[in-house]
Amino acid sequence: MRRKIVAGNWKMNKTLDQGLQLVDEILSSSETSSQVLKIIAPPYIHLAAIAEKLSSREDFAVAAQNCHHLKSGAFTGEVSAEMIASTGAKYVIIGHSERRSFAGETNDILSQKVNIAIDKLTPIFCIGENVDQRNANTHLETIRAQLKDALFHLTAADFGKIIIAYEPVWAIGTGVTATSHQAQGVHNFIRTEINKKYGKEISENTTILYGGSCNAQNAQELFSCIDIDGGLIGGASLKATDIVSIINSF
Ligand code: 13P
Repeated sequence: MRRKIVAGNWKMNKTLDQGLQLVDEILSSSETSSQVLKIIAPPYIHLAAIAEKLSSREDFAVAAQNCHHLKSGAFTGEVSAEMIASTGAKYVIIGHSERRSFAGETNDILSQKVNIAIDKLTPIFCIGENVDQRNANTHLETIRAQLKDALFHLTAADFGKIIIAYEPVWAIGTGVTATSHQAQGVHNFIRTEINKKYGKEISENTTILYGGSCNAQNAQELFSCIDIDGGLIGGASLKATDIVSIINSF
């Protein structure tokens, strides 16, 4: 179902105490509202504690930042989708550009992650071009290939559960945000590709988030675009005043 969502990806930040304190601050300064779903994606080891803290708030949910592509086994240091679900987390970010570049995750591995996660968790699947692809004007081809190779094998019923996050790599952590015109253009392209593959109903019902230097100053303009349903926020999700202001930007 298409929803307004603000998701905070903490990446490798916050000790457990700092994370719990940040959640307290967000809870005390954001009104209960079912209009916007707020998702917090802390490091794995904080998932259970933060899910417990948020369990009484239906407008909040918890996400993992990654999961393994296999069910279980001898994979030291890895975490499975089933383990994540057992903490109370309901979402998982898959295909973040930092995983693609630092951990060499390919569309093929990512499609396996989606397959293993989809029964237990809602994937927030990240796509987006790098600066060279944008400059060469091949960004739409890149995005089309990411969708096709990692997601378009899914049945319509399973695809209908996916949230997409468009995160241009050149905008992540750089302070250079895509303009609302650029972001809306790509979001519309993504929705059109989904329409071609799965039809109008599914494409109209897919939640598509924008990520990449989204902050309290630019969120309102981005979120007012017709195909932008909210944000996947990195740096600005680490401070309560910033993330609450982004949540209030709808
Ligand atoms: P920034 O908001 O820090 O650019 O990060 C975006 C991001 O990568 C969210 O997943």
